Amino acid sequence: MAIERTFSIIKPDAVAAGNAGHVLQLLIDGGLRPVAMRMMHLTTAQAEGFYAVHRERPFFKDLVKFMTSGPVIVQVLEGENAIAKNRELMGATDSRKAAAGTIRQKYGTDIERNAAHGSDAPDTAKYEIGFFFSGSELATLG
Ligand code: RTP
Ligand code: MG
Repeated sequence: MAIERTFSIIKPDAVAAGNAGHVLQLLIDGGLRPVAMRMMHLTTAQAEGFYAVHRERPFFKDLVKFMTSGPVIVQVLEGENAIAKNRELMGATDSRKAAAGTIRQKYGTDIERNAAHGSDAPDTAKYEIGFFFSGSELATLG
């Protein structure tokens, strides 16, 4: 296994509910360490650009509305097998179907309001990190 970096968002539902710290703790307890982090309120253009891969999907408009409904925390996480690990810690997309103890099961509500985002592959991780962070914003961990 290799040390990887992945991109993560603590979504507006989790931030609004005061659960950002709990979500972050589950990620850290799972072996992922933040190397960059920022709170921001996404613009419609940013949310549309970030989720452009879904623009033809029926849920796209609602997704953009949700992702711009309040502040989020965007972050880069580093660790062994970080991309798959983050997805495992988040659980299934639909919070109602996510395994017990996962972030989405604990802090999400349904298939849309699901508390967290995580990159799904190395190429998307690279793209998504670059979408929000420049190289100089990424910490080097000891
Ligand atoms: P994400 O990209 O946010 O990590 O989630 P994911 O890979 O598990 O799921 P994806 O298929 O990429 O969907 C992106 C986000 O769109 C919302 N969604 N809504 N109403 C619906 O049927 C529906 N399906 C997906 C969710 O917020 C999902 O995380
Ligand atoms: Mg996805």
